[in-house]
Amino acid sequence: MGVGGCLALPWRCLVVLCLRLLFLVPAGVPVRSGDATFPKAMDNVTVRQGESATLRCSVDNRVTRVAWLNRSSILYAGNDKWCLDPRVVLLANTKTQYSILIQDVDVYDEGPYTCSVQTDNHPKTSRVHLIVQVSPKITEISSDISINEGGNVSLTCIATGRPDPTITWRHISPKAVGFISEDEYLEITGITREQSGEYECSASNDVSAPVVQRVKVTVNYPPYISDAKSTGVPVGQKGILLCEASAVPSAEFQWYKDDKRLAEGQKGLKVENKAFFSRLTFFNVSEQDYGNYTCVASNQLGNTNASMILYGPGAVHDG
Ligand SMILES: *[C@@H]1O[C@H](CO)[C@@H](O)[C@H](O)[C@H]1NC(C)=O
Ligand SMILES: *[C@@H]1O[C@H](CO)[C@@H](O)[C@H](O)[C@H]1NC(C)=O
Ligand SMILES: *[C@@H]1O[C@H](CO)[C@@H](O)[C@H](O)[C@H]1NC(C)=O
Ligand SMILES: *[C@@H]1O[C@H](CO)[C@@H](O)[C@H](O)[C@H]1NC(C)=O
Ligand SMILES: *[C@@H]1O[C@H](CO)[C@@H](O)[C@H](O)[C@H]1NC(C)=O
Ligand SMILES: *[C@@H]1O[C@H](CO)[C@@H](O)[C@H](O)[C@H]1NC(C)=O
Repeated sequence: MGVGGCLALPWRCLVVLCLRLLFLVPAGVPVRSGDATFPKAMDNVTVRQGESATLRCSVDNRVTRVAWLNRSSILYAGNDKWCLDPRVVLLANTKTQYSILIQDVDVYDEGPYTCSVQTDNHPKTSRVHLIVQVSPKITEISSDISINEGGNVSLTCIATGRPDPTITWRHISPKAVGFISEDEYLEITGITREQSGEYECSASNDVSAPVVQRVKVTVNYPPYISDAKSTGVPVGQKGILLCEASAVPSAEFQWYKDDKRLAEGQKGLKVENKAFFSRLTFFNVSEQDYGNYTCVASNQLGNTNASMILYGPGAVHDG
């Protein structure tokens, strides 16, 4: 289809030319604002993509001919439809009003529309701008990322919409330091473990609710043992040694008694390893169990250890 579909019909295009020469003012002649004479088009029309737009033009009974144009192509002249676009329909052609409706408006419909009339053999026009708004949409966003502590992170969030959406980044973790970037790009140099968590990109342009999407940033760091206490337990009782460590990825634990690694499944002993701790349980403590135990926590970034004493009554220990 040609411009507004009108070029598809040569016969009509001839008439378009005639209309343009005889009836309409040449393009580019400004319409004086505050001109009280008709035609009077409404103010600029703003609609969302997919909605319908009504273009109204006030006329009076001196008006003999009327037309609505999209740029230089005629959509309607009087009751006659000149374009093939089925979305364009005539709403009213009365002594006071000449209106058309454009359904399912899209971005390419944006632009100047002209109401053109002939009054007392003088052509006159009035122009209205159709402005098409589009909800924001995030078209590109960084994938979840895993980075070692101290590394540099660069997150990207690209969004489209009309008007151009405003893009912001927010750190939304509970321990958040409230990082905010009012930009498509978020750069973090020398990232710390406190800066791990979810980052939210928000794109907003007042057309609809902001659109948000999240990126998970995992900061890896070597184990750090936060708790490892010596414990006093009498012979014959149950004893527990606990080793708490934080690490990303989670630490693997090993236990030593003095220099000897504790074998798996040793009688009367249970080792439970979880993401943030390892627990050594003696079901029935004996004299031989007393001594110095070392917990080693490791992941691919390093390892650390802490020692603790399992002691009997009367023993004096500083742990
Ligand atoms: C208006 O003109 C533009 C540019 O030729 C075209 O893409 C659009 O479809 C037209 N819209 C209507 C409602 O005629
Ligand atoms: C109508 O829209 C055009 C183009 O965006 C703009 O130049 C003009 O100032 C607007 N007029 C009014 C009355 O808002
Ligand atoms: C991180 O960025 C800083 C500053 O731009 C630079 O000096 C440093 O070498 C970068 N570190 C890495 C691991 O790329
Ligand atoms: C603990 O071990 C001692 C010595 O082997 C034994 O006499 C006692 O019955 C055990 N106690 C429990 C609760 O198993
Ligand atoms: C326990 O063992 C560790 C490592 O072998 C050692 O550094 C620490 O001094 C020992 N603690 C006691 C109280 O002997
Ligand atoms: C515990 O850490 C110290 C210091 O890093 C190291 O010398 C020692 O070998 C470690 N012990 C074990 C059992 O890994």
